Amino acid sequence: MKSILITGGAGFIGSHTCLLLLEKGYIIFIVDSFINSSDQSIERISTILKKQGINIEGRIYLIKGDLKKKCDIEKVFEMSFTLQKNIECVIHFAGLKSVFDSVRKPINYWENNVNGTINLLKVMEKYNCRNIVFSSSATVYKINTSEPVGENDPCQPVNPYGNTKLAIEKFLNDLYKSQPNSWRIACLRYFNPVGAHESGLLGECPLNRPNNLYPRITRVAIGKIDKIKIFGLDWPTRDGTCIRDYIHVMDIAEGHLLTLDHLLKEKSQFLTLNLGTGKGTSVIELIRKFEKVNNVKIPFSFDKRRIGDSPFVVADNSLAMSILNWTPKKNIDDACRDGWNWQLKNPNGF
Ligand code: NAD
Ligand code: UFG
Repeated sequence: MKSILITGGAGFIGSHTCLLLLEKGYIIFIVDSFINSSDQSIERISTILKKQGINIEGRIYLIKGDLKKKCDIEKVFEMSFTLQKNIECVIHFAGLKSVFDSVRKPINYWENNVNGTINLLKVMEKYNCRNIVFSSSATVYKINTSEPVGENDPCQPVNPYGNTKLAIEKFLNDLYKSQPNSWRIACLRYFNPVGAHESGLLGECPLNRPNNLYPRITRVAIGKIDKIKIFGLDWPTRDGTCIRDYIHVMDIAEGHLLTLDHLLKEKSQFLTLNLGTGKGTSVIELIRKFEKVNNVKIPFSFDKRRIGDSPFVVADNSLAMSILNWTPKKNIDDACRDGWNWQLKNPNGF
């Protein structure tokens, strides 16, 4: 059984990935500062697995720690050595992710995301662990208007959050080139992860007010927000609202498992892959879909464009599909149903 360190494993995408890793038999060490999550997500993972009859004794270790402190990361690696469960690979989710906050607090974002990653890589090198999967984002791409983006398309983020993601990708690439035949690195550029685990026990639970469309829709449906303000009706798209590539969080989680398999069995490499569905959905289409699938009403009104938005962000996902043999299995209906199921069962989060 391989041991994997999951940074930010209590968060939205991290927790769904931890669940799959445990289902597949991995030993996992989770380090999280809980700045945007709680340990309840880990409790829920245990509940789901217990229901499935999967024994996780001795396979899950949760450590409260902050990547900004190198000693916190060292503690985790020490622990894995002491337990003789040496960490073979890191899946690095930990990061701050609000575009809006990043504009107001760039120091926090650079310190947390970039310094945190540098600390992590220093400790990994010290402990001879040179395999990492990094959570990057479609936000690194240069704004375009109508074509799906491929991994070789130009990158030009327009906010501090995106700048930190691209900076980390470049840092990882420098590291890879400094010691060829040593590092195995994958940067996964997620598009718009939505939905929740089908049990309704695990889902997105940000501690701060969400800025993203999907969690706002579920909050309108449950009555915590009055209505959705749609940012712009004058975009050059089929209905005038922005188009995004919404991908079910379980498909993203599955992408991590396949990336892990791929990295650990292949030779040293640096990979960049889009994780998206390749299908675009407009803001109005997503709202209508959510209403139809769940038989709920989502009031909305139109507001001016949001600064820094792009009319069209859809993945060319052909590289991930061919390299990983990965195909998104769930569609937007599944995401709408599962996200609503989660919100209904947990109106106040965990
Ligand atoms: P999330 O906020 O739910 O999870 C991130 C986790 O990292 C949280 O549990 C948080 O407490 C933890 N964390 C943050 N800084 C930390 C630090 N210094 N030390 C330890 N733990 C820390 O976010 P998510 O949606 O699960 O996103 C996971 C990753 O994927 C992030 O890096 C994010 O930037 C990236 N990403 C997310 C999206 C999205 O729309 N959800 C899209 C593209 C990329
Ligand atoms: N939107 C609204 N009203 C809202 C919220 C959003 O109309 O209340 C619109 C936005 O203008 C945009 C679309 O809904 O057109 C999606 O917006 P999100 O904020 O949900 O997602 P973004 O595509 O802007 O960004 C998200 C994450 C980033 C990530 C990126 C990857 O916030 O972290 O997806 O594509 F990098």
